[in-house]
Amino acid sequence: MRIDVVTIFPDYLAALDLSLVGKARTAGILDLRVHDLRDWTTDRHRTVDDTPFGGGAGMVMRPDVWGRAIDDVAGLSAGTPDAAGAVHLVVPTPSGETFTQRTAEALATEEHLVVACGRYEGIDARVAEHYRSAGMRVSELSIGDYVLNGGEVAALVMVEAVGRLLPGVVGNPESLVEESHGAAGLLEYPVYTKPPAWDDLEVPDVLLSGHHARIHRWRRDQALRRTAVRRPDMVRALDVDTLDRHDLEV
Ligand code: ADE
Repeated sequence: MRIDVVTIFPDYLAALDLSLVGKARTAGILDLRVHDLRDWTTDRHRTVDDTPFGGGAGMVMRPDVWGRAIDDVAGLSAGTPDAAGAVHLVVPTPSGETFTQRTAEALATEEHLVVACGRYEGIDARVAEHYRSAGMRVSELSIGDYVLNGGEVAALVMVEAVGRLLPGVVGNPESLVEESHGAAGLLEYPVYTKPPAWDDLEVPDVLLSGHHARIHRWRRDQALRRTAVRRPDMVRALDVDTLDRHDLEV
C-alpha cells in the first residue's frame, strides 16, 4: 500500500519511522511518503491560509495550494484518466465521521491513501467537494470527540491503525482476532505474565491451570464483563446469534 501524508509539519510524522509501521516501510509492505504542503505554494512567504469568507476567528487553508498538492501526490497532474478512482483521500477533521476499527479495516484494502492534514480552522470546503466530483473516494474522519491543533496526530493514529492490518505487518495475525474491537465485538480480556505473584497480587489460578477450555471460558467471561462495565454501547451492538449459552449466564 502507498500512503502520502501532506502537512505543514512533516516532522510530526517522524514517529512513523519507528516500531511496526517503520518495519513495514523497510520491508516494502508500506510505501509511506510525507510531504510539506508549502512545496506547492507559489508566493515568497509560502502562504497556505487566508481569512474566512463571512468573517469569524482564525484562518482557513487555501484550496488552490491543496489542489496542486493533492493533484501531484495522487498522480492527477500526469493526466492519467482514471487516477482519481485509484486514490482514497482522507481528511482528518473533528467535524468528520468517527474513525473506528471498521474504518481502518476498510482503508487497509485500498491501494493508495492520500492524507491531507489541515491546521487552523480547517481546509476550504471546496477541496473535498472537488475531489468527490472527480470520482475520488473522500473520507472526512474524526478520531474522537475532542479538538486537536491539526490533523497530524490524527494522521499518525490512522496510519498506525491501518498499517498494522496490512498482511505481514503484525507477526502473529491471530493477535488481530481477539484484540479489543476485533471480530468478537468485545473489549479484550485482562492479560498477565511472570511473575505469578507480584506485590501480593496473584495471577488468577485458572490461567496457571493448563486447562484450555476453562481458560477460554474465563477469558470470554472477563471480556463480556469488562465490555458491559466500560462500553455498554458495544454490548447493545452485539449480534445475539454470536453469543453462546454460557455468555448469557455472565
Ligand atoms: N483535527 C483536529 N481535531 C481532530 C480530531 N478529533 N480528529 C481528526 N482530526 C482532527
